[in-house]
Amino acid sequence: MNSLVNPVELVDGSVLLHLDDGCDLDLPNLWLRDNCPCDDCRVPQTQEKRFILASVPADLSPSDVTVDSHNLTITWPDSHQSLYPLDTLRALIQPEVKQRHSWPENFTPQTFSWDLFLHDSRVLIEALEEFMRHGVIVITDAPQEPETLELLAPVTGPIRELLFDRIHNVSVEGHVYNIAHTSLGLPPHNDFASYSFPPSVQALHMLHNEVAGGESIIVDGWAVADDLRTDHPDYFQSLCDFAVPFREFDDNNETYAVEPMIRCDSDGKVINLRFSNQLMQMINPQQKGIREFYRAYHELCNRVTDPKYKSTFRLEGGQIILVAAHRVLHAREAFSPTGRRHLQDAYFELDNLVNKLVWLKRQ
Ligand SMILES: [Fe+2]
Ligand SMILES: [Zn+2]
Repeated sequence: MNSLVNPVELVDGSVLLHLDDGCDLDLPNLWLRDNCPCDDCRVPQTQEKRFILASVPADLSPSDVTVDSHNLTITWPDSHQSLYPLDTLRALIQPEVKQRHSWPENFTPQTFSWDLFLHDSRVLIEALEEFMRHGVIVITDAPQEPETLELLAPVTGPIRELLFDRIHNVSVEGHVYNIAHTSLGLPPHNDFASYSFPPSVQALHMLHNEVAGGESIIVDGWAVADDLRTDHPDYFQSLCDFAVPFREFDDNNETYAVEPMIRCDSDGKVINLRFSNQLMQMINPQQKGIREFYRAYHELCNRVTDPKYKSTFRLEGGQIILVAAHRVLHAREAFSPTGRRHLQDAYFELDNLVNKLVWLKRQ
């Protein structure tokens, strides 16, 4: 053991480490053994873990522990030695930097020009950081050609293909399988609630907009859910627990998912609001908790349509809205179909945009 004043202690099931900056760490024995960074326990070329816990007993405990100003060293009963740099341990307990922010009052999405978004890495970093913060940006001066969204792949990663179409056309002419293909107003929603894991990013590309009306609306769904939790925790819980059927179909496709409207991560942070009035199906009226669910859903509908959470603007030809689709709902006001209005949609995955941002910042 070390000669300093108790910098390390063995207690039942873990190693207590008292660092000189006042930081105390409780490191479970199995965690320590699982995270040995040596070349035998890792694949040196890829840094992947090779060691697997099944090779040690559950009550494993160190035979010796020492610490100096740089490293914690542990010797295990089979003589295997593990050395943990203290800086690595300190880095693990740094609080996570908050990336997401609710929208300020009178929020409108920040705009970035198509050319810079695709070709200037500094602008792209700024755009992606803004996207992670507020869940939406608008790209301007994009080509007004069909299938332009294919060109986003170097930034957004590959298109997430879903049924119906690879790139979806939204206009009053053509294949009608959704209310979006009419001139009716669309309440706030996210697309493909009828998939177990709906696409997490959506791009809406306006090719031509020559109609009166049809303003675009976006809603900060996470702010709606967070405020609902504060004001009515019981409604929030019902929306997290009660599974709701959603369906989208045409003559050739039948997509169907039964999922709650709100999902949280293991820390209780909202990570997905699933809201689609148009795709929601009739629920078994005997389903346990349905009265409570409907009361909560009524309040959720009030809030999703409340001007407080929405931003309204006109999307012109050559503009693309990019939304984090598990967070931001989109909607449209009714329009009079007196001229051309043609929008194309494609879907991507947020993990790939996060990957791009991390990679760019590393360069
Ligand atoms: Fe939509
Ligand atoms: Zn090892």
